[in-house]
Parts: sequence; C-alpha cells; structure tokens
Amino acid sequence: MSQPRDHWSSRAGFVLAAAGSAIGLGNLWKFPYIAWENDGGAFVLVYLVCIALVGLPIMLGEILLGRRSQKSAVGAIKEAAGKNWGFVGGLGVFTGFVILGYYAVIAGWGLRNFVMCLGWTLNGFPAQADLAGEFGLFLADWKAQFVTTVLFMAATVFVVLRGIGKGIESVSRRLMPLLMGILLLVLASALSMEGAGEALQFVFAPNFGELDINGVLEALGHSFFTLSLGMGAMITYGSYMGRDESIIRSSLVVVVLDTLIALVAAVAMFSVIFSVAGLQDQLGRSSVGMLFITLPSLFYNHVPLGSLLAPLFYILVSFAALTSTISILEVVAAYFIDERGMTRPRAVALTGGGTLILSVLCSLSLGAWGPISNFEIFPGKAGLLSTLDHLASNWLLPVGGLLTTIIVGWVLSAAITKGELVDDNTPTWFRYDLWRLVMRYVVPVAVGAIIIAVILGRDFS
Ligand code: TRP
Repeated sequence: MSQPRDHWSSRAGFVLAAAGSAIGLGNLWKFPYIAWENDGGAFVLVYLVCIALVGLPIMLGEILLGRRSQKSAVGAIKEAAGKNWGFVGGLGVFTGFVILGYYAVIAGWGLRNFVMCLGWTLNGFPAQADLAGEFGLFLADWKAQFVTTVLFMAATVFVVLRGIGKGIESVSRRLMPLLMGILLLVLASALSMEGAGEALQFVFAPNFGELDINGVLEALGHSFFTLSLGMGAMITYGSYMGRDESIIRSSLVVVVLDTLIALVAAVAMFSVIFSVAGLQDQLGRSSVGMLFITLPSLFYNHVPLGSLLAPLFYILVSFAALTSTISILEVVAAYFIDERGMTRPRAVALTGGGTLILSVLCSLSLGAWGPISNFEIFPGKAGLLSTLDHLASNWLLPVGGLLTTIIVGWVLSAAITKGELVDDNTPTWFRYDLWRLVMRYVVPVAVGAIIIAVILGRDFS
C-alpha cells in the first residue's frame, strides 16, 4: 500500500515554502549583478513586465497542475495532457538537476563568507586585505570548494529527507521571517549612505538606449529563475496543497515578496557602491563577484554598523539559498517517489548523491581543474558552472515555461482550469478570461518571439 500523500501542515505552509523557493541567490546574488551589467533602469523595467505578464500567469498554471493532480511534475503533466507530454516534466527534472549542481556551489560561498565575516567581526578587519585575491585563491582551492559544497548539499538533503510538513515547511517558517528582518536592517543602513539617491535613480530610471535583445532574454530568463518557474517546482509544491486555499492569493504574495526582495537587495548594494568613490569603474567586468568579493570590505569600511551586519547578511544569503535548494531537490526526488515508487529516503539519497557529483564538478570548474574551467560554449561564460547557469536560466527554463504554458492554455480545457482557479476563495478582482487569454496568446508569443529573436540574431561566424 502506498502512503497517503504528505501535505503542508497549515494554510501558510505553501506560501512560506514557495516564497522560500523563489527568494534565493537569484534575488541576492544574480539580480543585482545582471541589473548592473545591463545598466539598470530599462532592464529592471523589462524584468518587472516579464514578472507580471509572464511569470505570475505561469505560476498560477503550474500550481493548478500540481494541486489538481496531487502529483509532482511528470505525473501532473501526464495527467493533464497525456503520456506524450510527459517529456516536459522530464525536462523539468533534468533542469532541476542542472541548476542544483551549480547553485549548491555558489550557496557554499555564502557559508564561507559567513565564517570569514565572523572572524573579522570578532578580531577586526585587516587594513591591507586583498579580498579579490583571497577569493580567487578560495575558488581555485578544490578542498575548500569541496567542503563548502558538500556541507550545503548535506543540509539540503537533511531537510528534504524529513519531508513536506516537518522538513521543508518548518524550515521555511523559521527562516523566512528572519531573512526579511535582516534584509530590512541592511536596507536601512544602506539608505542612510550618500549614494542612496543615485542607486534609486540607477534602478528605477529607464534608459532604453542601453538594452539589447540579449538583455531582454536575460530579463525573461531571470523572471523564470527567480520565481522558480519552468521546471516543475511550483507544480510539485502545488501538489502538496489542499483545495481550501486560493491559488491566486498565494501566488500573488509569493511574486510580490520575491520582487520586493530583489529590488531591495539591488538598491541596498548599489547604495553602498555609489557611496564609495571610484568603485563603480573598478567593478566593471567583475560584477559577478559583487556579492561575494566587493561587498564584504564595504561592510567593514563604509556601511554604518557594518561589522554587525556583515555576518548576519551572509547567514541570510545561506538561509535564502537553502530554502531554494530544498525546493529544487524536492522536484527531482519527488519524481522518483511518485513515478518510480521509491521511498523518500532512497529517492533523496539517490538524487542528493547524483547532484553532489555534478556540484563537485562545478566547484572544480573555477580554476582548480583546467579542462572544465576554461571551455567556452556561450560567449563570455567560461567553465562548467557559468555554462550550466546560462544554459538553464536562458534556455531550459524559458523553453520549459513555454511548453507548460501551452499545456495549461491550449491542452487543458477552460472548464478544468476555471474549476481550479475560480471558487469561493477567489479574490473578486481576478479576471479568469483575461488570465486565459494571456496564457493562450501573450505568453507563448512573447516568450517564443524573444527566443527566436535571440537565435536569429546570433553571430554564428
Ligand atoms: N528561485 C530561486 C532563486 O531565485 C532558485 C530556484 C529555486 C529555482 N527553485 C527553482 C530556479 C526552480 C528555477 C527553478 O534563487
């Protein structure tokens, strides 16, 4: 006999866990640096449009697929659209494996910075510190990378092993409020600095001259990444949801929180950067390292109360990453539990072990091992880690999201989707017909057009 399906133990369970999944390195590490690379304003605006017009509607679609079938990605899609579409779920599981492989490595850097900051706060920050140099040495040091990556994966496995209510939900319930509290402290301190005005201007004043089609794809891809869409994570989390909750209200809370936190992180970081003379130009091409390399010394040398905030901030980064990695591992593990009849411990051991191998490879691709550190498939993205990130966020997620949209908008009947979205809990402002129109036409056309424009515009020479 199979066990009854595990569920969120409270109404807030889904929202907390889904917000935990959405809010992660995508908000704290990636959004600030890609917004910086794409010169702020216009990129941010396109990103916000993608969130509202593409991300939110797809999130409703994914959750309804999961809640309706009470099955994770592959099973939910097969049930909705038939066996032939099962590959879309399979693609999602594969994408999850890819993302977790490199995500765990970067999450490990958060742990490393936390430990470093604890030391600096207790013993004083060295006057002559060469943080960029030290971080470079850390990246190329396979033992250090191995330790932080394995630690992080172990924490992820530990939570997912405990299941939905006792594992994922209870961790999210504790960590999410803490995370918001710490972030608000950091924001308050950053806004008191003189660069705050310029930072707000940079983030919110659009200048379209600076944005090209690759930037648009990046904004689109990031809107999938940051909301954990396009690979079945929200299908899976939705499958642990009961019928007494409004999909619409829950999604809206998750999307608004995720977007706010990305904007807060960017404004806080840029406020500090604009406050320090000469730093802007110096950041130039190394903006990827903004969170891990540039920020620590700024905390100690410039930010009010920085030596207190620095360790708190990096533990926040690690927590935010943890509530995301558990959601990715859950997608992969749930496939083996639901579709292959494995017990949870077996499935988690198998998938956790498999991703650990990939993540150790990624951790060696930062200089420690030449052959996987230097190859370049996507221009400017050398090495396995950057290649997988680019592949997953800019290609696998948009394609997965597009296919999911087609299933929800075209394969499922209006009666079915309406039955899931519209009930007594549905907020009065929700317009079902508008949502369906967006899913059938706006999302496929927009996502398809961007993908095609980038392919056609590519320089194959
Ligand atoms: N959304 C998370 C972040 O912003 C990352 C993440 C978690 C994710 N689960 C996902 C991305 C599923 C894509 C798909 O950091």
